[in-house]
Amino acid sequence: MKIKAINGFKDILPEDIAIWRTIETVCRDIFARHAFREIRLPILEKTELFARSIGEATDIVEKEMYTFTDKKITMRPEATASLLRSFIEHGLHVSRPIQKLFTVGPMFRHERPQKGRLRQFHQIDAEVIGGSEPQIDAELMAMGQMMLNELGLDASLEINSLGCRECRPSFRSALVAFLDKSQDKLCDNCKRRSTTNPLRVLDCKKQSCRDLVADAPSILDHLCDECDTHFKQVQHYLDLFSVRYTLNHFMVRGLDYYCRTTFEFLTGDLGAQAAIGAGGRYDGLIEQLGGPPLPAVGFAMGIERLSLLLQNKADGVTPEPESDIFIAVLGERAEQTGSKLANALRAKGGRCGIDYSGRSLKAQMKIANRNRARLVLIIGEQELDKGEAILRDMQTQEQSSFTLKSNIAENCTELLKISANVLTTTEL
Ligand code: HAM
Repeated sequence: MKIKAINGFKDILPEDIAIWRTIETVCRDIFARHAFREIRLPILEKTELFARSIGEATDIVEKEMYTFTDKKITMRPEATASLLRSFIEHGLHVSRPIQKLFTVGPMFRHERPQKGRLRQFHQIDAEVIGGSEPQIDAELMAMGQMMLNELGLDASLEINSLGCRECRPSFRSALVAFLDKSQDKLCDNCKRRSTTNPLRVLDCKKQSCRDLVADAPSILDHLCDECDTHFKQVQHYLDLFSVRYTLNHFMVRGLDYYCRTTFEFLTGDLGAQAAIGAGGRYDGLIEQLGGPPLPAVGFAMGIERLSLLLQNKADGVTPEPESDIFIAVLGERAEQTGSKLANALRAKGGRCGIDYSGRSLKAQMKIANRNRARLVLIIGEQELDKGEAILRDMQTQEQSSFTLKSNIAENCTELLKISANVLTTTEL
């Protein structure tokens, strides 16, 4: 019996890596331009950390966490809580009043797997801790938009404000009163949520609930003056930064720690899994977790979803060649010369392939092709007697003679120069 991967846990195969690296490279570069620093965090945390931050009455904490109940530890379902735990534990606020941090890695949620929804998935997560200014919210959204633009992806940005501890209770009461009138029309899940976490009803995907909440009160009509001004300022700065967005007062997010600004980057190309990135402000959470009373805002992009979108693009990511030069050898003497040259080339920074199994030239050329090699240096016994090899440009199929000098370093320099030239002409 073959052992297969667990449902919802996916291998990222060598063929997928070019896209994953592109996503990470683009995002890391944009983080650097925005003065974000990387932080790496453990995958296991105390269960209580997630229960206290994400919220006891959320789907994540109620049913999606991978928890070792005997040890009271959980595989992180998201990065924000872990990052804050680390921030508080190491007193990171002492060294800088504003900390801009990012982290990349796997998260775990026991959801029903489908396209774009996995049980182990990866996030690129960004958090700005220490500032409540609306400019920070807008700048973060502009940064997310920049990532999508530079990856060549289209997405729409939806924003909302969830108010604060002062104004949300009045909205909650208005919503509960509204939902009470139509209890019988709500789906079973929402009947339960209307008492445990009524805001989540606004987010239900069932058409009957959607129809019902279309007339529900809007949080935006219940914001206190401070939250209202903050949200208007966020919109002002989004306009100033030329970031396009729409207001969606039904957006409540699946994590309870948010206050004020929330946002989602959405796509129409991934069916039900429309959110490719999402986040918001969570002032008060750090204090609630035992840290200083610092405001903060952040978001996370889902790498699998970005990757699916890039795969679908006709002009998506071209994988990099695996070799600059492939050395095809025919015969034992050629193999000696070729292998020495291959290792010297690698030591000088060249990407070099060689096959030692004595295959025919045709078979070796096939391997070179599969390696996407730019150049193949063919070393045969006869050529070797003349101190020569054949150099084949895999793009143009042109062949020329290459003089093998006794000084191996000279051969390397010459080959690397030719390969760099091939690279520039193909890129032009
Ligand atoms: P989230 O909305 O739960 O927010 O997840 C953010 C993104 O992670 C989603 O938009 C999606 O792209 C991806 N994602 C979530 N669940 C899955 C899944 N099961 N399979 C594949 N991708 C998934 C958070 O996690 C917050 N911590 C974001 C944040 C950071 N808020 C403030 N700072």
